[in-house]
Amino acid sequence: MSSFPCTRLRRYRRTESLRQMFSEPLPPPSKFIWPIFIIEGKGKEIKIDSMPGQSRMSIDIALKRLKPVVESGIGGIMIFGVPEDKCKSPDGRHAYMKNGLVQNAVRKIKKTFPDLIVFTDVCLCSYTKHGHCGTIDSNGDVDNDATLETLAKVAVSHAEAGADAVAPSAMMDGQVLAIRDSLSENGFKNILIMSYSTKFASSFYGPFRDAADSKPMSGDRKSYQSPFSDLKQAIRESIEDEKEGADILMVKPALCYLDIISKIKERTLLPVATYNVSGEYSMLIASSERGFGDLKAMVRESTAAIHRSGADIIISYWASRYKEMFEL
Ligand code: PBG
Repeated sequence: MSSFPCTRLRRYRRTESLRQMFSEPLPPPSKFIWPIFIIEGKGKEIKIDSMPGQSRMSIDIALKRLKPVVESGIGGIMIFGVPEDKCKSPDGRHAYMKNGLVQNAVRKIKKTFPDLIVFTDVCLCSYTKHGHCGTIDSNGDVDNDATLETLAKVAVSHAEAGADAVAPSAMMDGQVLAIRDSLSENGFKNILIMSYSTKFASSFYGPFRDAADSKPMSGDRKSYQSPFSDLKQAIRESIEDEKEGADILMVKPALCYLDIISKIKERTLLPVATYNVSGEYSMLIASSERGFGDLKAMVRESTAAIHRSGADIIISYWASRYKEMFEL
């Protein structure tokens, strides 16, 4: 039975100040991580056509672009290396070179911005010739256990360079445990592992694969990334990573999976991050460019929804435009 005319919810909304008083605040900049793409060279900045507003940068340019973003108060960045073709191999070994792209970027960025939390993506797809996230076996499958060894080496090389946190994204079974063990054996007991624990085989990664030059040459990633159609597996992926020693869990993408973020939050006390991925970023831009919606309003509404789902940390390309998008 309705309690109208006594109950009138419009009373709360009558003025802007009333609306403000009853609003949940948008997440502060300290909750955001900005993903950046690093290339070889000096003075290079190549715009990513499928992600307007984002580019691939050499380290010197990244340092310049980071200054205002760091000043806006964002919590951290996530570094992706985009190596030249000559650095791609069947097993992705350039990903763990002492003086590789990511390792050098970490050293320089930490030196310039010591308080910025530097996360590194630990994966091989940009470093393998075939574009899969690990070594391929004789049957053409990604060889899980052989890949673990490479991933562990990559994580240790990032830790040696000074990363605060490593973020394994290859979706190999046992990758968190393998990385935790290697970090410990090498004396890195204080490095955080933010696992891409529930990472779906999603169709929203397209622009990223352009940016990172990491599209598989053949096949897809469905034999290692989680199917969007299986809720139980999606939750188990995160629970298993907690058992393996992850410090932070992650759901990726964000917007299609707000229910999964909430469900995982109910089952863990670890912080849960979510990755508002490239396709989610670019679709809002495309929509606003065609006049279907106001960009800032769409960004605010979708980010509020991500925050409300329970995400403690948001990895988002909007982080580079925090002031423009989220401050009144
Ligand atoms: C690499 C990786 C991907 C993303 C982050 N790390 C792509 C993929 O799995 O194909 C996607 C990020 C985005 O779309 O913004 N394993």
